[in-house]
Amino acid sequence: MARILTVVGARPQFIKAAALSRKMRLYHNEILVHTGQHYDSNMSDVFFQELDIPKADYNLGISGGSHAQMTGRMLMALEHVFDTEKPDLLLLFGDTNSTLAAALCAVKLHIPVAHVESGNRFRSLQSPEEVNRILTDHVSKLRFACVESAMRELEKENLSGGSYLVGDPMYDAFLYYQAKAHMIPLDSLINLAQKPNLSAQGYYYLTCHRQENTDDLCKLSEILFAMESLDAPVVYPVHPRNKSDVLELQKRHNFKNIVFTPPLGYLASIRLVTDAKKVVTDSGGLQREAFFAGVQCVTVLDFIAWPETMVGNRNQLARPLKADILRKLSHKQEVDPDYLPFGTGHACDQIVSILNEQLTKGI
Ligand code: UD1
Repeated sequence: MARILTVVGARPQFIKAAALSRKMRLYHNEILVHTGQHYDSNMSDVFFQELDIPKADYNLGISGGSHAQMTGRMLMALEHVFDTEKPDLLLLFGDTNSTLAAALCAVKLHIPVAHVESGNRFRSLQSPEEVNRILTDHVSKLRFACVESAMRELEKENLSGGSYLVGDPMYDAFLYYQAKAHMIPLDSLINLAQKPNLSAQGYYYLTCHRQENTDDLCKLSEILFAMESLDAPVVYPVHPRNKSDVLELQKRHNFKNIVFTPPLGYLASIRLVTDAKKVVTDSGGLQREAFFAGVQCVTVLDFIAWPETMVGNRNQLARPLKADILRKLSHKQEVDPDYLPFGTGHACDQIVSILNEQLTKGI
C-alpha cells in the first residue's frame, strides 16, 4: 500500500478525482489536498457531496489573484504539506494552476508525479492552461493520456516513455453517474422566477467562462445575441469569473430567451447535456460530455481541444460571432455509435493497474 497524495482545486478535477479515488483507495492510502482554487459552495462543496468524494485532508484556501500570485502561494503551501506527508507519489489532473503548482513543488522535492489527462495540446501559449499542461507533462514520471492524439503529441515531445493511453476518466464518470443524474426531473433544475418548461419546449445548453471569450465584452455579447435568436430557451449557468459582465449585458439588452442560472453541480449539468437540443460551450469538459451523450456541440474557441470529437459535425469550432455560431448550429451531425475514441469507461481501472505495477517496481 503506497501513500498517494492527490491535489485538486477546480471543478473538472473533482469529477476526475471522484472516479479515480473510488478505485484507487482499494489499494492505496490517499491523502487528498484541495488547494481552494474553487471555493463557492456551488463550485466545490456540491461536487464533494454529490460525487461522494471523501472530505479533503487539507484545504489550503488559496484562490483568486493573478496567475503568478495564485500559483506562487500554492507552491509555498504545498511544500509544507509534502514535507509533512512524505507521499510516495503525487497524482494530478488536467491543467489548472493547482496542477502546475503541485507538479513544480513535487519535482523539486523528488516526489514522482503522475499526470492524468496528459498530452493535450491546443497550440496556444496565450492560454494559461496550455502552459500548465506542457510544464506538468514534462516533469511527470507517469503520463496518462485520454486519447490517441494526446499520445502522438507526447511522442513529438519525446515523452513516450512513461506515457500510457488509458481512456478518459471523464467518460468513466459520465457513465457511472448517468443513472443518478437521470433521477433528477428536468424541470426541477431551474429553480428561478423565469421558469421555462424545458421538457416540453426543448432547450439549448450554453457555458462560457474562458478568459479568451470573457475578457472582451464584445465577444460575450455576440455569443449571447446568437443564443437570443434560437428557437428554444437557452440554459446558461454563469461562472463567477464573468458574472458581473453577464449582469451588465443583461441590463443593457434584456435577453428574453436566455435562462441565466448560478453554477450547477455535476449531476444537474450532465442531466442538462443529455437532453439538450445542442450545446454551445468553451469548456473542454463539456465538449466531451456532449460527445459522450451524442448531442451536437459548437465550441466557441479558435483552437481544437479534442480532435477526436471533430467528426461528422459532432463538434465544430465557431468564432465568437453571432453569424458563425448560428451557421455552425444549423449543420446536421452524423453519429457513429461504434466510434469510441475516449475508451469504454474503464480508464480508472487501467490507471490503477499501471500505478500498482509501477509502485511495486519502484518508480
Ligand atoms: C479554472 C482553470 C480552468 C478550468 C476552470 C474550470 C486555471 C488557469 N484555469 O478557470 O482550466 O477549466 O477552472 O471551471 O486554473 N471564483 C469565484 N468562486 C469560485 C471560483 C472562482 O468567485 O468558487 C473567481 C475567482 O476568484 C477568480 C475567477 O472566479 O476571480 C476565476 O477563477 P480561477 O480559479 O482563476 O479560474 P477559472 O476561470 O475558474
